[in-house]
Amino acid sequence: MSSNHSDKESAGKSIPNWLLFLFFGAVVWGAVYGIFMHGFLGYSQSSAYRDSTGQSFAVAFIPEKPERNAASIANGEASASTNCGACHGGPALTGSIGPNLTDDTWLHAQGQMTETRLAELIMKGILPADAKTEKGKQGGMPPRGTLGSDRQVWEVIYYLSSKNRSIRQDATP
Ligand code: HEC
Repeated sequence: MSSNHSDKESAGKSIPNWLLFLFFGAVVWGAVYGIFMHGFLGYSQSSAYRDSTGQSFAVAFIPEKPERNAASIANGEASASTNCGACHGGPALTGSIGPNLTDDTWLHAQGQMTETRLAELIMKGILPADAKTEKGKQGGMPPRGTLGSDRQVWEVIYYLSSKNRSIRQDATP
């Protein structure tokens, strides 16, 4: 009996320090992370940032909107030809299933076409029900075309607005 008791005691004492460190480290990290991301008593850096900018914290610090320069425009040209050209008329983007993107006729602009409006259209895609052409009503446009990242979408937009002067360059990278 007494040997059993001492076994338990030594088992209790044998929790290694690194395990305790890991455990309490995780608890402390969890608390700090929680306060930082969700705020303490209603205030947090991220909610303050969101209130003052209308943008979420994560969006603001991941550089998804590239600089407008020759390199990003060239990337956009390549992406547009492979990803948008399939429906918009090949590398020239002069229209097939989807409309011509190089002229000044816009079906989905609200007033003048802007880079901001393009971003909204491309990110959300166009539902068949919202399409304005007969070809468009058959399948609409998938969100982002087939582009993987927001960065690629912006590069395509910079490319389009560099070629097509009917698009107002209102994006601020
Ligand atoms: C699967 C086919 C498809 C792909 C891929 C596609 N689109 Fe479209 N897109 C369409 C269709 C169809 C419409 C027209 C919808 C309608 O009838 O109103 C359209 C409409 C648009 C419009 C609105 C045009 C206007 O006149 O207002 C823009 C801008 C646009 N696409 C940009 C793009 C870009 C940029 C890409 C590549 C990232 C892309 N699309 C990829 C099918 C596609």
